[in-house]
Amino acid sequence: MTERIVSGMRSTGKLHLGHYLGVIQNWVKLQKEYESFFFVADWHALTTKYDNTANLKQDVKDVVIDWLACGLDPDISTIYVQSLVPEIAELNVYLSMITPQNWVERDPTLKDMAKILRTKEGANSQVSYGLLGYPVLMSADIMMFNATAVPVGIDQVAHIEITRDIARRFNNIYKTDFFKEAKPLLNHCSLICGLDGNKMGKSFNNDIKISDTAEVTAKKIMTAITDRSRLRKTDLGHPDQCEVAFKYWEIFGSPELVSNVKSECEQGLRGCADCKRQLAEVINEYFAPIRDKRHYYEEHPEEVKEIIHDGSARAREEAQKVLKEVRKIIGMY
Ligand code: TRP
Ligand code: SF4
Repeated sequence: MTERIVSGMRSTGKLHLGHYLGVIQNWVKLQKEYESFFFVADWHALTTKYDNTANLKQDVKDVVIDWLACGLDPDISTIYVQSLVPEIAELNVYLSMITPQNWVERDPTLKDMAKILRTKEGANSQVSYGLLGYPVLMSADIMMFNATAVPVGIDQVAHIEITRDIARRFNNIYKTDFFKEAKPLLNHCSLICGLDGNKMGKSFNNDIKISDTAEVTAKKIMTAITDRSRLRKTDLGHPDQCEVAFKYWEIFGSPELVSNVKSECEQGLRGCADCKRQLAEVINEYFAPIRDKRHYYEEHPEEVKEIIHDGSARAREEAQKVLKEVRKIIGMY
């Protein structure tokens, strides 16, 4: 039997190139080799945005549209929305009972999120019971389908470790070998940084969206950091010190183009503005088919809705099988 993978993303709205290169591209490849479940984690979004839900629905749709545009195929992968599979919430209850408090408290990602929350004002600055349970809910997501592997970015690996611990603890407590211990499946791609050289992120205002138009992309690329020591076109450039633009070249340019850019830059034959204009063209060409496909789904919202509902129904079917077994193992009424 083919192995099963599960992975998800919080519904943060339109996705950026970091999501594409770091995660989605990997999923698109893996869906051909594994029985795949991909979902939008709207409950996880609520852990920090419970008081700001006006865009929640649209955010979910935007994520799914980006996925479809990038090549996730609803005919071979199960694409669903977490909150449309309520079985996950029930499994979350059972897992909550067996998870020691200090396991969730030492979650490193949670510590980071708590730090961010503390800088905010008002009700949303508190770490809620739900946020504390973030890794347990994630474990429920993964164990719900008894997956053996979870394709994620490096930032999620600590969470997968907790999932393995919880699965092992469940098996020990209830004297079973029902739950498999899922391992992270890392994508060994080069990480793309934001336009300012920091990690690319929506909240840092340094991202390029998959859905950005060619014009917006070009405008953003013009702000990308280059070799800071360079003032004039004729100054000899240092591509290895060109903090953002050359890194993008290495990701999106053909080897010939990249070596051409490198030598022209080093010889002072290439101005940074022209260089970035050309870079924008290359990136826009790369994303043109994806953006066309995205446009199609935006124009056909009923199709997207159907994909979400069909996928969620299929996910529920599988989840119910697992849940039935879990209830029996625990000894529920
Ligand atoms: N925490 C993940 C993120 O922030 C999203 C997520 C939720 C997830 N549940 C998951 C990823 C289960 C993999 C498996 O992107
Ligand atoms: Fe970077 Fe291109 Fe400028 Fe060289 S010419 S420093 S590669 S942007």
